[in-house]
Order: sequence, then C-alpha cells, then structure tokens
Amino acid sequence: MFRQAKGIFFIGCGTSYHACVSAAYVFAHTAGIHVNTVIASEFSNYEKFLTDKSLVVALSQSGETADLLDAIRTAKRKECQTISIVNVVGSTLTRHCDLNILMNSGPEICVLSTKSYTSQLAILLMLAYSMSGRLNEGKELIKKVCENVSRVIDNNLETLESLAGELKENRDFFLIGRDLAYPSALEGALKIKEVSYIHAEGFAGAELKHGTIALIDRGVPVIVLSTERTRYLILSNAMEVKARGAYLIGIDSVDNELFDYFIKVPDVNHANPILMIIPIQIFAYYLALARGCDPDKPRNLAKSVTVK
Ligand code: AGP
Repeated sequence: MFRQAKGIFFIGCGTSYHACVSAAYVFAHTAGIHVNTVIASEFSNYEKFLTDKSLVVALSQSGETADLLDAIRTAKRKECQTISIVNVVGSTLTRHCDLNILMNSGPEICVLSTKSYTSQLAILLMLAYSMSGRLNEGKELIKKVCENVSRVIDNNLETLESLAGELKENRDFFLIGRDLAYPSALEGALKIKEVSYIHAEGFAGAELKHGTIALIDRGVPVIVLSTERTRYLILSNAMEVKARGAYLIGIDSVDNELFDYFIKVPDVNHANPILMIIPIQIFAYYLALARGCDPDKPRNLAKSVTVK
C-alpha cells in the first residue's frame, strides 16, 4: 500500500499527532519516503489533493477521537486507502479503515497518552524499517530500546522527583530539539501541561530565537533534547538561552558543561524518541504530585475526545 501510494498522509490529534511527526522523520531517514503529517482536525483542507491513490494512516489510542473520525470519513469519501494504528480493538476507527494495525499495548488507564505514544513510535519505526527491507534491524533496535527503558527509569526516578520539587513553581517550561527530537519536544511539552498545569512549549531547536526567546529570563527552565546526530547544533541553541539565564536540563547520551541538570539516555538512533520521552513523562508526573495535582484526574481532560 505504501509503495503504490501517490501521496501519504499520517494524521492524528494531540499525542498521536506528535507520533505522526516523529514517524515522518523516521520514514524520511530510513526509507527515503516522504510522508505528509496533518493534524486530523485540519485534514479537510487537503481534500483537493486526495485521490484513490492516496494513503491515509490514522493514529489513535482510543479509535474514537471525533476529529480523527471526521478526517477518515473525508479520506473514504475520496476513496483513499486507509490504515489505522489503534489500541482499542473494535473501536469506530477500525470499522472505517481498509487495514488495521492493532497496537496491542493493553488498556491505557492513564488519561494522558503514555505507553500508547511509545507503542505508536515502535510500530511506525518497524514499519519504516520494513519499507527498506530492514525489518529485523528495526526489531533489534526496539529490543535494544526495551533493555534500556528500565535502566533509564531506575537511574533517574529519584532525581527526577527532587528536580520536580525544585522547579514546581515555574510559570513556563520550554523544550527544544532538532530532527527526531523536535516532535519529542512537542510531546514533552504536552505531557507537562496536561498533568501539572504549568505552561510548556516545544520548539525546533533553531526556532526559539525567532521571537519566543524574548520570554527567556533568569532561571527559566529549558529542556534540551540532544542526540548524537544533532548535538553540535542543538547545543549552540542551548548556549543562546543559557546566555540569557535559562536553567538547562539536558537529555542526551553524554553530559555537557552547559547543562545545569543532566538526564542520561543512551543513543538508540532512530528510536531515540521512544527513550527520550520516558524521563519527561516521569518528570511531568512528579511535577503534578509536587503541585498537588491528581495525575489520574487531570482537569478539563477526557481519555477520549469524542466531540469536535
Ligand atoms: C494525550 O496525552 C492527550 N490526552 C490527547 O492529546 C490525545 O493524544 C488525543 O486526544 C488523541 O487521542 P487518541 O490517540 O485516542 O486519538
């Protein structure tokens, strides 16, 4: 379906959209395939480009997100090929799509998408690798990630709790990342906002200086998501905010003197977004607890947004 498609769209909402953006980078880097990523509620604006040769891949944990179901109905009306990557068996989305890839991550009780995000990333990475005939390599990479998940958690759990206690009064968090770490910055910001109610914004590393850097002042926390591939450039962006007084939390496989706080995450190449989000998910959780927010009942949120 991917090889025959003329125009591929990954669509989703919220965290599932961030998984779409992350996957687009993996498809570009590993399979040399161009993928359009569109927020599901904006998909109708692309209707004129849709044909029976288009492939639309819908990402959703619940399979009941109204904005996404609307988008998939648009795709069906234009006779596009449709694939879902979905967690809830028998959900409405699965009944609309030509092919369903079930995430099989088990019921996600948390209102925030956590394991469903990393599951989507893993599936999309293996899909991208299989497109270039390297599925086994992709599986080995995912196994390597799994071995490192518990190590990242065990090595950082306590210090993240104390860091959350120190930073809980901040009004803003900024997250910067380049390449594959850019969608991770978007997702990390959403996690912090959703559960601790502190404003957070994710940026492509070089983008902060195009205006928002005006908000950087002494002590403003900036989470720098750095990888081997992007380290030189993202650290120059980190220097820009450090020079304006920012408190830098570095996530990388190697420490750097720029960082005021360092979270070590082994470099797993195209699978970095899976590992990198875990310390941020944990940090957001402890921020919520430190602020007396209930991570199980985040205000104004529902597990599935079934209204437009
Ligand atoms: C994720 O933490 C959010 N609660 C929300 O953005 C969610 O990802 C979005 O509503 C999409 O939900 P879905 O994956 O079930 O379609």
